[in-house]
Amino acid sequence: MEFDPAALPPNAMYKLLISSVVPRPIAWVSSVDRAGVRNLAPFSYFMAITDDPPTIAFSSSFRGAGPDGKKDTLRNIEDTGEFVVNVVDDDLAAQMNVTSGEYPPEVDEFEVAALAVAPGTRVGVPRVASAPITLECRLDRLVSVGRATLVLGRIVYVHVRDGLYDAATGRLDMHRLRPVGRLAGNLYTHVHDIFEMKRPNPDYRG
Ligand SMILES: Cc1cc2nc3c(=O)[nH]c(=O)nc-3n(C[C@H](O)[C@H](O)[C@H](O)COP(=O)(O)O)c2cc1C
Repeated sequence: MEFDPAALPPNAMYKLLISSVVPRPIAWVSSVDRAGVRNLAPFSYFMAITDDPPTIAFSSSFRGAGPDGKKDTLRNIEDTGEFVVNVVDDDLAAQMNVTSGEYPPEVDEFEVAALAVAPGTRVGVPRVASAPITLECRLDRLVSVGRATLVLGRIVYVHVRDGLYDAATGRLDMHRLRPVGRLAGNLYTHVHDIFEMKRPNPDYRG
């Protein structure tokens, strides 16, 4: 089969795209509004861009309901210039899903999902206390792409749960991390079946 995006009915390209780019990591983004009300929501249009300077990006789609099409996360980041990306592991998957509900701005999703809160170190945004990794970010820039907004964040502080960091390699232990990936629709994947391939270049140290 072949598809011309320009000829597809509404929503069809969304379904094709999120079925094609899989599995996607999940940025579980915490933020606060101007009054300090906490917000937490997952975003799987998410990627690492570069480590120098350390920068990640996620995109917030247009919200049909509401005055300006902005999700609470995007509005908060515009207002405060800060956010935190929490990594979702197997134990947190169900609570992550709860926080994806379309709650009004005044609702604190940490409370809705019964999540313990830890303070940010460099940013005034709370973290998910039990997340295996949290990346504290300052807004680098916003890029409009159609009706979506790409949020670029500079990582200013990193928290890693004890027992995950391997000082000998400088990497995190992929068997202990147990991250969750998003597939299409309501499907997810565990990362339990891990294999190794050595690079052709024997000097590769990444
Ligand atoms: C696993 C998962 C991934 C999601 N990824 C995105 C995404 O990349 N972009 C987006 O706009 N919404 C995404 N959503 C939907 C948002 O989480 C949802 O609209 C949420 O209510 C936004 O919350 P907020 O208004 O508090 O920011 C995703 C939902 C789930 C469950």
